[in-house]
Amino acid sequence: MMGRPLWFLGLLLLHGILNILGLAQGEVHYYDFVLVPVLSHLCEIFPVKIIQLKEANFTRLCSSKSMLVVNESFPGPVIRVTKGDTAYVNVHNQGDYGVTIHWHGVHQPRNPWSDGPEYITQCPIEAGANFTYEIILSDEEGTLWWHAHSDWTRAGVHGAIVVLPLNKTGFPFPQPDGEEIVVLGSWYKGDVNEEVAEDLESGADTPRSDCYVMNGQPGDFLPCSSDSTYRWQVDYGKTYLLRLVNAAMNAELFFAIAQHNLTLVGLDGSYVKPVVSDSLMITPGQTMDILVTANQPLGRYYMATRQYDSTRPDVTDYDQTNVTAILEYRGNYTPSAAPIFPSSLPIYDDFNSAVTFTKRLRSLADNDHPVDIPKNITTRMYITVTMNTVEFDYEGETKTALASSLNNVSWINPSTDVLLAYYRNISGVYTPDFPDYPPNFYNFTSDDMPDYTTETVQGTRLKVLNYNEEVEIVFQGTNVFDASEDHPMHLHGYTFYVVGSGVGNFDNVSDPETYNLVDPPKMNTVSLPKKGWVALRFRASNPGVWLWHCHLDRHLSWGMDTVFIVRDGGTPETSIRGPPPNMPPCTSSSKIRLMPFPNSRGSSESIN
Ligand code: C2O
Ligand code: CU
Repeated sequence: MMGRPLWFLGLLLLHGILNILGLAQGEVHYYDFVLVPVLSHLCEIFPVKIIQLKEANFTRLCSSKSMLVVNESFPGPVIRVTKGDTAYVNVHNQGDYGVTIHWHGVHQPRNPWSDGPEYITQCPIEAGANFTYEIILSDEEGTLWWHAHSDWTRAGVHGAIVVLPLNKTGFPFPQPDGEEIVVLGSWYKGDVNEEVAEDLESGADTPRSDCYVMNGQPGDFLPCSSDSTYRWQVDYGKTYLLRLVNAAMNAELFFAIAQHNLTLVGLDGSYVKPVVSDSLMITPGQTMDILVTANQPLGRYYMATRQYDSTRPDVTDYDQTNVTAILEYRGNYTPSAAPIFPSSLPIYDDFNSAVTFTKRLRSLADNDHPVDIPKNITTRMYITVTMNTVEFDYEGETKTALASSLNNVSWINPSTDVLLAYYRNISGVYTPDFPDYPPNFYNFTSDDMPDYTTETVQGTRLKVLNYNEEVEIVFQGTNVFDASEDHPMHLHGYTFYVVGSGVGNFDNVSDPETYNLVDPPKMNTVSLPKKGWVALRFRASNPGVWLWHCHLDRHLSWGMDTVFIVRDGGTPETSIRGPPPNMPPCTSSSKIRLMPFPNSRGSSESIN
C-alpha cells in the first residue's frame, strides 16, 4: 500500500541535495490522494496523506446517488501548506473511469507536468492506476483550491488549498482568532457525466444543477436538508478568516451573512486592499479570504448563497435555489425560532452589485507585497468570447449543436496531450495559429448581429509565446445569439493583473487611458462582464503548456478554451523541467467534449 516507487525516493534525495545547495525553498509535504478508504493512522507515521478517488453514496434533496469523491468526503480534504512549500500528492484512482486533478491557482514554476488538465498536460489516470503530482508553491499566499480537470468530475472532486504566510512576513492584517473554510458547489441529483455526454452528442444544452451547496449541504430551505445544514460556531468578539471557494460548475454566486460585514482581504492567493461590504459576488474558480468579526447579538444568522444570473432577464431557467448555512454564536441564550436571513443578499439578476464589487478590488502594492505590472507590451491579443453553433450529422440528419469559441475557434482536445507533443516534438497534434484578433469586426455587443457570426470553426489551435514576453489580453464579450453573459476567464500557470474593464465594445484609444497601472488586482480567474470587456497583463516568465478557459464547465465542454505554450528562456533555470517517469499513458480520448465535426462550417477568415 505504502510502497513508493524508487523515483519517489530519488525525489526525496534530490530535494535534500537542493536543500543543502540552498536551492529549494520551503517544506515538502507528501500526500497520498488515494481515491480509496482512508488510512489516516499512516499519516502520522509517514508524512503522507492517503487520498483516494472512489465512489461513495450521498443523499441530498431526498434522493441518493453514488458519486466519485476524494477520501469519501464532499467537499474533499484540505491541503494545508506554507508559502513556498512543495507538496506531493499521490492520487490513487479507485473509481471506474479516468481522472486528472488540477491545483487551481498554483503556478507550478517550470512544472506543467503536474498541472492536470486532461489532454493538455497529461492523459487521465486510468481506473486502478495512480500518479504522483508535485505541487510547487512559489509566491501564492492565501486560499486556493484543487479539483478534477477531466469530464465534469469536478462536481464531486474538489477541495480547498490553504497557503499560510511565512512567519517572517505574516498576514498583512491582525492575526485572526480562527479560520473557517466554506466551499460553494453544485448538486446534481443524477450522474452528471452521463447526462452531459448525451447532451454533447445530441447538441442539446447541458443539465442545470438541482441546487447549490455550502460545504456539501443545501441548507434549511431545500427539501430533506434541514437536519444536515452546515453550522459554523463562533465566539462573540472574535475575528475569523473565512476562506471562500466557488467550486460551482456553471454559476457566479452572491454570498452574504446576515447582519455581518465581510472584509475582503485576499483573492486568488494574493492579498488585496481591504474591501468592506455586506455581500459579494464570487465567480467560479475564484477563492476569497474574508475577515468576519462576530460582533452581533448572540444568536443564529444565515450565511446564504444564490446564483448571479447574467443572461437576459427573460431567461429564467436557472438554478434558483437559496442555499444556506448557519453562523451560530456559542453561549447561553435562547435562540429565536429561525435564524435571520441576510437582506443584503442581492437578487439573481443584480448586475450592478456584481460589477461594482469587482471594480473596488486593488492589490496591496506595498513593500512586502510589491506589484510588477508589465509596461512594455510585446504581445497584444483582442479575443472575442462567444456562444456559437456547429452543424453536424446526427443519426443521418444534419443538426445544429451548441458550441462556444474564442476568436471564433472552438477548441478540440487532441488524443495525445499537448504538453507531451510539444516536449517530444510530435507533429499533427496541434497547430500554433490561434489568432490574436477576431476574424471579423462587427458591433460585438449590439442586440442585432450579422448572421455569419453564429457559426464557429473547430480546431486545436494554440498560441506560442516567447519567454518573458509582456502580454496584454483584452477579452471582449459578445452578444451573438442574444446570449451574452459573464464568462469567468481562467489562466493556468500564472496570475495576471486586471488593469481595466468596462461595458460595451473595447475602444483601443480611450479605454487604455482608464487602466490602473498602479495597484491593479492580481487574479487567476476574472469575470468578463456580460456585453463588456476586461483587460489583463502578465509576463510570460513560466515556461510550459498552460490552458486558459472559461470556468463555466458547459462553455469549456463546448470549446471556450485554448492553450499558451511559453517557450524556454535559454538557461536551465528558465526552461521547462523534464517529465516525471510515470506520466499516465494516452490510451483513450476525451468523451465529455463537443465532438470534432468534420463537416462543421463557419468562418475563421474575414468575411469582407
Ligand atoms: Cu479551476 Cu482549468 O481550472
Ligand atoms: Cu463562459
